[in-house]
Amino acid sequence: MIETERLLLRPPEPTDLDPVYRLVSDPNVMCWLSRSGSPETREDAAARIERWTRAWEIDGFGHFIVVRRDPAAVIGRVGFLVWADDPWSHGLRAEIGDRAEIELGWSLESAAWGRGYATEAARAARDWGLEHVEMRRLISLIDHENVRSQRVAEKIGERYRHDIVLAAGGTLGLWQLASPR
Ligand SMILES: CC(C)(COP(=O)(O)OP(=O)(O)OC[C@H]1O[C@@H](n2cnc3c(N)ncnc32)[C@H](O)[C@@H]1OP(=O)(O)O)[C@@H](O)C(=O)NCCC(=O)NCCS
Repeated sequence: MIETERLLLRPPEPTDLDPVYRLVSDPNVMCWLSRSGSPETREDAAARIERWTRAWEIDGFGHFIVVRRDPAAVIGRVGFLVWADDPWSHGLRAEIGDRAEIELGWSLESAAWGRGYATEAARAARDWGLEHVEMRRLISLIDHENVRSQRVAEKIGERYRHDIVLAAGGTLGLWQLASPR
């Protein structure tokens, strides 16, 4: 559990199904998160929670659920994804090993955007990751048109380096944490 001024970050639980479904069924969110950009179903949301929980169990890190404290509500997720590069595809640290790339990602339901919550959550998760996750570097993979997300990356100290090509198809910008803080 991580506490910030306005938020709590904690690992996912099965009872997060309703808010996670709200997040992944939001077209304004999903258009940035997958190649298809399609809103997901309740079953997809449950499968995501299972995958996120499995990552915590096996790798010891993963996505945090972002809880706004006042008024109390789950508003999104922030946390760590593991990638194998060339070609870039998701996996578990336990399977990929030393060449794993560690990404810090963030998504909030659109009703909570524009209040600095993503930056506050991402900063806290970044600091937690630097302390608890073994990594060569911390990156974020961001669409060139996703200006809001690029601003979050800049504000937590990441800088654009180069593009990468996803195994699933498509190109994303690789942003890298320039300095530890
Ligand atoms: C990316 C995301 C998490 C940002 O959430 P947020 O709570 O709005 O973020 P913040 O308020 O902390 O910061 C957003 C920044 O973008 C700026 N911004 C807001 N609207 C903008 C716009 N239309 N164009 C450019 N910048 C914009 C804000 O001003 C703020 O920067 P500032 O503090 O320098 O003013 C949220 O938009 C989201 O969930 N998007 C969909 C999922 C997604 O894209 N995830 C990331 C995938 S890489």
